[in-house]
Amino acid sequence: MNRDTYLSIDFGTSNSLVGAYHDGRRHEALALDPKASDPSLLRTLLYFPHPDLCYYGSEAIEQYIEQDMEGRLFRSFKSHLPNKNYLGTILDNRILTLENMIGIFLLELKKRAEKALGTSVERAVIGRPARYSMDPVSDEFALHRMQKAAHFAGFKDVVFVPEPLAAAFDYRRQLTSEKIVLIGDFGGGTSDFTVIKLRPEGFAKQDVLAIDGCPLAGDTLDSVFMSHRLNNYFGANSRYRLPMGSNVLSMPKAITLRLNHPAHIVHLKEKETYEFIREVRKCSLTAQDAEAVERLFILIEDQQIFPFFEEIEKTKRNLSTSDKSEFAFDYPGLEIKEKFTGLQFESWSEDTRGKIFQSLDQCLSSAQLSAAQVDLVCLTGGTAKVPLIQEEFKKRFGASRLQTQSHFHSVLSGLTEAAGFIATGNSLF
Ligand SMILES: Nc1ncnc2c1ncn2[C@@H]1O[C@H](COP(=O)(O)OP(=O)(O)OP(=O)(O)O)[C@@H](O)[C@H]1O
Ligand SMILES: [Mg+2]
Repeated sequence: MNRDTYLSIDFGTSNSLVGAYHDGRRHEALALDPKASDPSLLRTLLYFPHPDLCYYGSEAIEQYIEQDMEGRLFRSFKSHLPNKNYLGTILDNRILTLENMIGIFLLELKKRAEKALGTSVERAVIGRPARYSMDPVSDEFALHRMQKAAHFAGFKDVVFVPEPLAAAFDYRRQLTSEKIVLIGDFGGGTSDFTVIKLRPEGFAKQDVLAIDGCPLAGDTLDSVFMSHRLNNYFGANSRYRLPMGSNVLSMPKAITLRLNHPAHIVHLKEKETYEFIREVRKCSLTAQDAEAVERLFILIEDQQIFPFFEEIEKTKRNLSTSDKSEFAFDYPGLEIKEKFTGLQFESWSEDTRGKIFQSLDQCLSSAQLSAAQVDLVCLTGGTAKVPLIQEEFKKRFGASRLQTQSHFHSVLSGLTEAAGFIATGNSLF
């Protein structure tokens, strides 16, 4: 065991990266996933063909397909951290708590990093979003669960660093003079901001002027394709009449909200919800209503949720570079073809954009700064590529103050830098 070694872990909703401070130097993104197009990114995926076996990242998808989509595949589980109602899941007849699920993933990250470094490690600097939740109690709860998960993975000493602050550490290296910098990190689960006075010579605690964010990002943008169009195919607007009842009812909101969101749709498998949907199918008003609910069963029972949302994500990504994108799904019984335009996507995402930029406004206001007082805006994370995010920044700050990082490594680099400070006995500031 190497006492001076710290891992730096960017555990993301969609992608995870690990670096290290080891042997007196920084090791940037370690190769974690040999099968991925960028081996330094391990997709945050767990696949259990059965409760005793688990695959991660690209291999999780590969095996899921190879094993005919039997078993359970989990994605976006980081998003459940602040949710007190989500304790975990049941695999066959075993309980898998969320803390264990994340712990299993962190343990795998640890093992792969240890292999790459050739030493075992028990200390880590782990990123955390500015806010797991807008509710401070849920936010604390989420952090507490992350601590438990890290402990489960065998880490004895863990320091959590806000992800947007870590990104700021990375940006400092490019600077030659003092600047007020706004950093925006748009991921899969959260949008995170920090306003910081960056000076080439180093950091002081008072240089961090504000940190804020909100739990809306890429996954929520995926959900708009469901909520505005595709959920129609799955009974979101199906009507039914309960036996002996005279009222015509439509699918309850609690169900459609789950159906729409890539992190929440798996909850439709919960016993009570599932039974309820069965009831709706039986009591459908028209054959067309019943057909749509039937499709929902195929989606759930034939394990098509993951590939369906992969296709949605692909459609969304295409809209980052083109003004039209085609959605095509051809699983028997779920054949769907739709065309989407950038304008539609933009208008459907209005509400999400509003909330994300409200938290940016909050961040600037806590820093007691106006947009005009910011010298530089640095954007990172996969969702920073979305045109509606880019456009809003251009509108507020002008293109000349805007810089978008094309790679995914800013948060990790900053965490690795923080790991170096801590490993050498220095405080972060
Ligand atoms: N070209 C693109 N256009 C639009 N969205 C994209 C593009 N590339 C990636 N994304 C989105 O970026 C998100 C993943 O980004 P990233 O890897 O930064 O997130 P993360 O770090 O895993 O999540 P978080 O930091 O929120 O926990 C996904 O929602 C993905 O769909
Ligand atoms: Mg991230």
